[in-house]
Amino acid sequence: MREDPLPDLRGRHREREALDRLLEGVRTGRSEVLVLRGEAGIGKTALLNQLCDRASGCRLARAAGVESEMELAFAGLHLLCAPFLDHLPALPDTQADALRIAFGLRGGGAPDRFLVGLAVLTLLSKVAEERPLVCVIDDAQWLDRASAQTLAFVARRLVAESVAMVFAVREPGDDKTLAALPELTVHGLEPDDARALLEWAQPGPLDEQVRDRLVAETRGNPLALLELPRGLPVEELAGGFGPFRWPEVSAGIEESFRRRVEALPAPAQALLLVAAAEPLGDPLLLWRAADRLGIGPAAADPAYTDGLMTIGERVVFRHPLVRTVVYRSAQAQDRRAAHLALAEATDRDTDPARRAWHLAAAAEGPDEEVAAELERSAGQAQARGGLAAAASFLQRAVALTADPVRRAERALTAAGASVQAGVFNVALGLLATAEAGPLGDLQRAPREPAARPGQVLADARQRRPPAAATSGADA
Ligand SMILES: Nc1ncnc2c1ncn2[C@@H]1O[C@H](COP(=O)(O)OP(=O)(O)O)[C@@H](O)[C@H]1O
Ligand SMILES: [Mg+2]
Repeated sequence: MREDPLPDLRGRHREREALDRLLEGVRTGRSEVLVLRGEAGIGKTALLNQLCDRASGCRLARAAGVESEMELAFAGLHLLCAPFLDHLPALPDTQADALRIAFGLRGGGAPDRFLVGLAVLTLLSKVAEERPLVCVIDDAQWLDRASAQTLAFVARRLVAESVAMVFAVREPGDDKTLAALPELTVHGLEPDDARALLEWAQPGPLDEQVRDRLVAETRGNPLALLELPRGLPVEELAGGFGPFRWPEVSAGIEESFRRRVEALPAPAQALLLVAAAEPLGDPLLLWRAADRLGIGPAAADPAYTDGLMTIGERVVFRHPLVRTVVYRSAQAQDRRAAHLALAEATDRDTDPARRAWHLAAAAEGPDEEVAAELERSAGQAQARGGLAAAASFLQRAVALTADPVRRAERALTAAGASVQAGVFNVALGLLATAEAGPLGDLQRAPREPAARPGQVLADARQRRPPAAATSGADA
């Protein structure tokens, strides 16, 4: 494939018009919200990039969700708001404090979600007083829940602050957090544009039959058009006889990425795996961890990584699907080794939660030390109002606990946290674990009312997930 950047996006007149209207609106003092929806590789990120290029005169703020098990509360929101924190003193004290607690800048009881939402709304409008503000949030399906809900709250309340919020969300998905907002579905390219893109990507002769099939089977998905020909065996490219029929376009792209990853030299594969296990995209952290595994800088040579990953200021995968493929197709023991190296490379004092999370992913079987560390991290997360984070940390802790009594106790606490976080099916599963264990003493002398299994169970069965927050994505 050609490595030079595309001259411009093919097609996309409708999308560009909508985004230009949005910029026009925000420049004339209105607030604007738009959710771009579409399958993996369809071109959502490309449109967001183009929007940023065209947003002259506006201030930009960007954030993106990263697929991983990590449920670090408010991580995505923090990414978006970090450049504006010097405006905090201009906010009403209660709002500023709520946000400081949410971002772990100060201690305090769990912040009121409503106050956090108001604080972000006020903060963004203050920033936009200077210049129109365009917030771009990519891969919103992978935002931690606390951030997604807060951003949806803000988006619903914008009126005339000169703030635009543009989200990109992968479809299909069942998260409804952004459901009520104005949206635009991004479809595949028209056949002519698709053919042109394919020709640009594969300047050599391509059997016409193969080309037509690629255009048809990719349904105009640009990532598939750019990547699939690279993953196809030569005889298929040349002859067009091989059966390449995918149930979903993204399955075909994944398959193609998998073949390419498997063809890389071992150190490059190992480096990709460490990067895939590290959601921050921090190159220093990556190299510290890689070093522990004996992977040297040569592994990152573009000649070895086949353009699947680049390391600059940040570690960037060719597409998020590469991360998914690398992580999923690795051997379990290699994945654990990568997480262990990342845990060791993560500062215990500044980022205990991420460290604990990596340790948990590295554990092969029950491990009391790691379970206890997760329990502590859950406490910290809960103190910041990170209910989903606390619940999933505790759930992991249960899985790592060997001692039956302690395991039952932890399952009970985790069930309570899951109810609070609104993940009722998980809570019920944990209760089953708790009830299967030796809970006799606990039941006779509950330490606090919420820890009584009957109570938690009743809560779990009575309460329905709140309408705006239904998703099985957390924990
Ligand atoms: N309209 C387009 N014309 C040409 N290339 C495109 C177009 N849209 C996307 N691409 C390219 O396709 C690839 C996948 O696009 P991307 O925006 O990452 O998809 P998504 O974010 O929807 O998963 C990128 O390499 C991008 O540059
Ligand atoms: Mg994208």
